[in-house]
Amino acid sequence: MNKIISLDEHIIQSQRNLPYATGELSSLLRDIGLASKIVSREVNKAGLVDIAGRADTENTSGDDVQKLDMLANDLLISCLKNSGECCGIASEEEDTFKPIKTHKQSKYIVLFDPLDGSSNIDVNVSIGTIFAIYRRQSYDSQCTIDDFLQKGVKQAAAGYVLYGSSTMLVYTTGRGVNGFTLDPSIGEFCLSHPNIKIPQKSNIYSVNQANYKKYPSGAQAYIDHCMNSDYTQRYIGSMVADVHRTLIKGGIFFYPATKSKPKGKLRLLYECNPLAMLVEGAGGKASDGKNRILDILPTELHQRTPVFLGSPDMVDEAEAFIRESLSVYS
Ligand code: AHG
Ligand code: MN
Ligand code: MN
Repeated sequence: MNKIISLDEHIIQSQRNLPYATGELSSLLRDIGLASKIVSREVNKAGLVDIAGRADTENTSGDDVQKLDMLANDLLISCLKNSGECCGIASEEEDTFKPIKTHKQSKYIVLFDPLDGSSNIDVNVSIGTIFAIYRRQSYDSQCTIDDFLQKGVKQAAAGYVLYGSSTMLVYTTGRGVNGFTLDPSIGEFCLSHPNIKIPQKSNIYSVNQANYKKYPSGAQAYIDHCMNSDYTQRYIGSMVADVHRTLIKGGIFFYPATKSKPKGKLRLLYECNPLAMLVEGAGGKASDGKNRILDILPTELHQRTPVFLGSPDMVDEAEAFIRESLSVYS
């Protein structure tokens, strides 16, 4: 039998390779891993107990919120509060950030989308959790909004958990992207996808093509190109699941601006930045159609952006169609 490397062991080993690491980020990552095991347990029970129905509320971005979103949100917040390594959080499901009081001056803040793909919860289709960790910039006892409004390039770590046919956690601290599969019999995330590298190019495009007529002409021209090429289409409707497939098999995932959402649908801080860090870490590209996602300076927590990410050759190709298009990209 090959040696099993658990997530906790991998995090500790990686920390040993960094002479100045204090262990705080490692501890925070382990706490997120623990929280995600609890969320995974609850997601797996969703069909059994009545927690999957709509909660009849909307989140601050105007989307339907379902009960499991809030459960995942509360679980993550309480795990991060107990962690002691995090001085503030911001969640897609919260109006604003929440400072966390810790016994010491914690260095990190965490942003997350507690449950991505919520329209897929009650049909047993893959959903996920996305997280981004930044070093705080402020020195006061409490964190401030500026700690959260940092460019994605400043992320100390990012990752997601995919609740799919198995539960997987994929994370990066900027030195390689590694994937772990949860073995429910031992309750451990085990290294299953070491050093993930995205294929340079592929033939899979992933977009909600029903919006075709609402997209700007550059995105339309790129979709026309995909349809006229030897490409195939896959679209799950959970960004985590679509991006996970893109990381492993290659391809491009994109959500352009639409007439009703001229700034795009997906959130820069909770969804696009962490997934962009992972995709870039695996050798891919992530763009808003013109500029690198990780270089966007956010001005608000719930900011949205168009996004094009995946195999570098395919993102380059999409950008070329957008550049050549005469339409204003908004
Ligand atoms: P969330 O469930 O966190 O609100 O995110 C849903 C997002 C994303 O996961 C997915 O890629 C996209 O919405 C799907 O949108 P459409 O249904 O408009 O295609
Ligand atoms: Mn989401
Ligand atoms: Mn969500």
